[in-house]
Order: sequence, then C-alpha cells, then structure tokens
Amino acid sequence: SSFRGRGVWRYRPLLPVSDDVKPVTMGEGGTPLIRCENIEAWLRDRYGVAPRVYVKFEGANPTGSFKDRGMTVIASIARSLRVKLVAAASTGNTASSAAAYTARAGLKMVLVLPKGKVAKGKLGQSILYGATIIEVDGSFDDAMKAVQDAVEASKGGIYPFNSFNPWRLEGQKTIAFEIAEEIGVPDFVIVPVGNGGNISAIWKGFNELHKAGLIDKLPRMVGVQAEGAAPLATAFEKGLDKPLFVDKPETVATAIRIGRPVNWMKALRAVKESGGLFTKVSDDEILSAMRMLASMEGVGAEPAGASSLAGLLKLVEDGTIGNNDTVVLVATGHALKDPDAMLRASTKMLHASSSSEAAKLLLEMAEKS
Ligand code: F0G
Repeated sequence: SSFRGRGVWRYRPLLPVSDDVKPVTMGEGGTPLIRCENIEAWLRDRYGVAPRVYVKFEGANPTGSFKDRGMTVIASIARSLRVKLVAAASTGNTASSAAAYTARAGLKMVLVLPKGKVAKGKLGQSILYGATIIEVDGSFDDAMKAVQDAVEASKGGIYPFNSFNPWRLEGQKTIAFEIAEEIGVPDFVIVPVGNGGNISAIWKGFNELHKAGLIDKLPRMVGVQAEGAAPLATAFEKGLDKPLFVDKPETVATAIRIGRPVNWMKALRAVKESGGLFTKVSDDEILSAMRMLASMEGVGAEPAGASSLAGLLKLVEDGTIGNNDTVVLVATGHALKDPDAMLRASTKMLHASSSSEAAKLLLEMAEKS
C-alpha cells in the first residue's frame, strides 16, 4: 500500500491537507482493535448467538478519546492559517483534546463548558493544558449556541474547533481506514452518538475507501444514544427524517448529554445510507456495559464509550445481529476520564486494620482458591 507510518498521518494521501501544512501531532490514532473473546463466549451462553466482536479502543489516544484524530488535523490547519483565537463548546473530551493540541500549536484556546456537567478527568485535563474556560449555567447545547453565535458575530475573529468545522471529521474518518486495513469491512460498526460528527466521519471514511476501489462492501452504521438524550434514536424509531430535539437532556454518559445535535443531518444520512439504525440504552445498561467491558476484557471505557457495547447487547437480544456477523464497537473514551463513574462499580472491598491482618486475609483467599 502507499501508506507509511502509523496513526492519523499514515493516511495523509487521503486527507485534503496541502503539502505545506506541517502536522501538529502526538502520534494520535493507530489505536488497538481488540478481539473480545470473553464477551463472545458470554453472548453464546446467554443468547446462543456468536458474532465476532472487536473493540476499537479510542481511549488509547494521547488525551484519551477519539477527538485527538480530529484535533491533530484542525490544529495543523489553524496554525497554518495563523488564527488569533480558537473556541469550542464541549461536554469534556473535545475540550481536553482541543486544549492539548492548541497548547502544542501555540494557539490561544477558549472552552465553553456546561457548569457542573463535565467529568472530573476531562475538566482536570482542560485546566492542566492551560486553556481559558468559560463555565456556563446551562447545558452543552447552550454552550454550543454561545460558540456558534460568537463565531458568527466575530466575522472571522474566532476560529471554531467544534465538529461543524469539517476539518475535524477529516481526521476522525481515519477510524474507518484503520479498521478496514486490519480486519476488512465489518458487518456492523456501533458508535455512540452525541452531536453526530463521529458516526458521519466513520461513514465518510468507509465510503471514500469504497469509491477508491480499496474495499468492496460497506458496513451498517449503528448509532447509540442514551435514553434521556436521544433526539435521533427516538425520531428514527418513529420513522421521522428529522430529530426530536430534547430540551433537558440527562444521562450518566455526560459525553453524549446532548439534546440538539449539530451534525444530525449527516448522522441520519450515515445510518440510512448504510442500512443501519439508531438504538437507545438506559443509564443502567450503560453502566453495566462499562463494568462488563472492564471486568471481562480489561478494557476501561468511560460510560459514553461503553454505550456501544450496551447497544450491541440490545441488537443481539432482538435478533438484528446474529451468528456470522462481525461487529466493531467504537469505545470512544477512556474510563480514567470519569472517576465518579468508575467508583460506582461495586467490587469486593475488604478492610484490614494492619499489615499482618491484610496478609492473613490474603492467605485465607489463597486457601480457598
Ligand atoms: N463518545 C465520547 C466519549 C464523546 O466525548 C463524544 C462527544 C461522543 C461519543 C459522541 O460523538 O458528538 O461526534 O456524535 N463528545 C463531544 C465533546 C460532544 O464535547 O467532547 P459525536
């Protein structure tokens, strides 16, 4: 193949970035595609169905989410354009990633975040990387509206890093390239959906490979939303071709706590064109999928990232996904992003009042195993 190196820039020939643009990079992309044989065995026992299950672990990116794929491209462009001020609204991961890549690019970054609704790891990263932060009383959708309004009023004075800026999707489409290079085209790609940028980017990636004659089929795209923040999944179930916006979105998966997805049209098109579907999952199902992925496969994903597994369980249960299907779950963000969610998982926690008592407990366990 004509591709060299690893990660996002391996696919530079497929990115519309001119040769004079120097990448702002930290080795993002090139994430592991992990076969989940324990989950496969569990599905076989429980439902008598044995799809092949892989997880694309986007938590392995430099700031712990898939956002880095888009940010390496958009930060490179922004630096080459010498923009004066960058802004982004975020539920947390865009913020962390944008803060890191603008720091590296020497650009000034302002983040607009919904106050009290950003997971601790993400807020900590945004602060650490040195971005200026505006906490807004309201939801992500209010933060997004602030950025859109200010960008428009600034007449070019503010450069937006949100996914309505198509450079982001150019970077994120490399998820499709990596999957296709490693295992070919799966039957299903399951993606957690918030603004709808990532599912459209992945679909764009597969389509470009198809048009270039590099693959001979396309996957079905599945979008997963949380029940309390499901403008697209609810509309899809009702057969509508427009989202049903949610005024007060609520979910434990704060990354996708979004009521008015800016890329809804592209996301809907990705699902429809691919013959895929949207599904929604409850907060309990999300947390249980998060524990399952971690305790059965050793893969730690934040709640939104694990919602793709929750979606898979639903589709195996209702018969949409069956034997002989190959499925890729996109685990979009690392468990470390959300310490509160991790601490909600219950485990055997024993207490010892001294070192010798701890040793005694250990020995008792050894005798029992
Ligand atoms: N998973 C995670 C972990 C995310 O952070 C996001 C989006 C998504 C899935 C959904 O992707 O918006 O392209 O449909 N997070 C954005 C943010 C909104 O601000 O970090 P999408």
